[in-house]
Amino acid sequence: MAGFLTGQEKSGSAPGAAARPGEAPAAADSGAPLGVYVHVPFCATTCDFCAFYQTVPKADAVPRYLAGIREEMALVDLSAGAAEAADVVGRGLPTPPRNTVQQRSPAGSGDPARQQTASRSASARRRVHTAFWGGGTPGLLRAGELEQLGRAMLDFCGGSAPAEWSVELAPATVTAERLAVLRQLGVTRISLGVQSFDDALLDALGRQHTPAQIRRAYDLIRAIGFPSVNLDLMFALPNQTEAQWRADVDAAVALAPDHLSTYCLTFEEDTALWVKLSQGKVKLDAEKEAVFYQRTWDYLAAAGYAQYEVSNFARPGHACAHNLNTWRMHEWIGFGPSAASQFAGERASNPPDLAQWHADLAAGRRATADRTALTPALLAADAVIFGLRMNEGVSLPHLQRRFPTAAWSGLHDLLPKLLIEGLVTASPEGGVRLTPRGRLLADAVGAEVLEAFAVEPKADAR
Ligand SMILES: C[S@@+](CC[C@H](N)C(=O)[O-])C[C@H]1O[C@@H](n2cnc3c(N)ncnc32)[C@H](O)[C@@H]1O
Ligand code: SF4
Repeated sequence: MAGFLTGQEKSGSAPGAAARPGEAPAAADSGAPLGVYVHVPFCATTCDFCAFYQTVPKADAVPRYLAGIREEMALVDLSAGAAEAADVVGRGLPTPPRNTVQQRSPAGSGDPARQQTASRSASARRRVHTAFWGGGTPGLLRAGELEQLGRAMLDFCGGSAPAEWSVELAPATVTAERLAVLRQLGVTRISLGVQSFDDALLDALGRQHTPAQIRRAYDLIRAIGFPSVNLDLMFALPNQTEAQWRADVDAAVALAPDHLSTYCLTFEEDTALWVKLSQGKVKLDAEKEAVFYQRTWDYLAAAGYAQYEVSNFARPGHACAHNLNTWRMHEWIGFGPSAASQFAGERASNPPDLAQWHADLAAGRRATADRTALTPALLAADAVIFGLRMNEGVSLPHLQRRFPTAAWSGLHDLLPKLLIEGLVTASPEGGVRLTPRGRLLADAVGAEVLEAFAVEPKADAR
């Protein structure tokens, strides 16, 4: 999980294909949708399974963090890709849920000269299509602090809220006051970290909330009227039975969320659960995981939630546009400690350390860790790996047009094997998708795809 997507919604990680010697950096996708991710690195306690970067906020840590976000945003030039912005390549994003809160445009002053200047600069800026605040626990910020963070975001986006703006909240942090501020800012989507409705399992995960708090938080979110609500659930937990998981899915479906993310527990290094695993106190059980996956897909399909990615399900029109943007290897800019970016020809991360992040900003630097030039090989491999995790699969002709110089011959050699093994299906037009069996083995297929892109192109390869 600690791949370059870390800090966005949890997803499988791709190790990333190596750049071929002498290969020129590639734009992720000129003019493609742009996302903004903000990592809020604070939690009251650490859950036993969690490896996301977070820390307990001390003294003036939050005001300093908020100032740091503004400093970091000032270091990014959003007009950099403006010339490419008109040239939209790719399938683009599905229509995100409508943002019903209209932000007042700074251009709306009635002064024609100001309006002209504003519209000139607006046309020169890249538009931010989606935003995602994750963590950590954004809900640990007070209402006034959320407002400050929101104002910084809106300023960065040129005054208007992105069409889709998601905020992750842990149930224990949800209050009517915080929600009202978020909705007022233009937040369209709340992602609630439920994990389970079972008291004992919540306790075993080190969570701070009870099932009653989940229901209270959900009712408050619905009462404010966010257009889209997601619930995060986790399965294949130590000692969790199939009946318990079924009860969790039923409880989630009974609340009628618009979106469900169901994550198979991963034992992340340096977590309390990892220690238990290494001490033999809990065990990995791949067969149990496969059964849970399969059951989840069946239950949720029957309940009217369409699967659109290995771990993600939505009612029509509620797929998370921000994550789709990421998985389709478009561009996003990450702010805050540990946040990753893929922007302006480069992939890079911020240090997963609040003090180091502040020190970098004081020196006028951002995105200082894991810098990689975006090459066609890197983007093509990741577009296939992450694309296959989505139910829509990938269109090879489309990706070959997007990244013509990547080593496609290796993938074409691999495909017959994946077809014979029943892991993928292929259409005459070049669309490739994982079968349900392939979806269960998505990580293994991803590893083979990565290897295929790493082979040298054959002499006769075009
Ligand atoms: C960034 S995390 C945390 C969101 C928020 N702080 C909360 O806990 O409510 C987003 C989601 O990733 C999932 N997650 C985190 N670590 C995981 C792990 N080790 N295995 C499976 N899912 C995990 C959880 O479902 C969690 O809600
Ligand atoms: S509250 Fe969320 S981010 Fe914080 S430790 Fe728990 S899962 Fe991780």
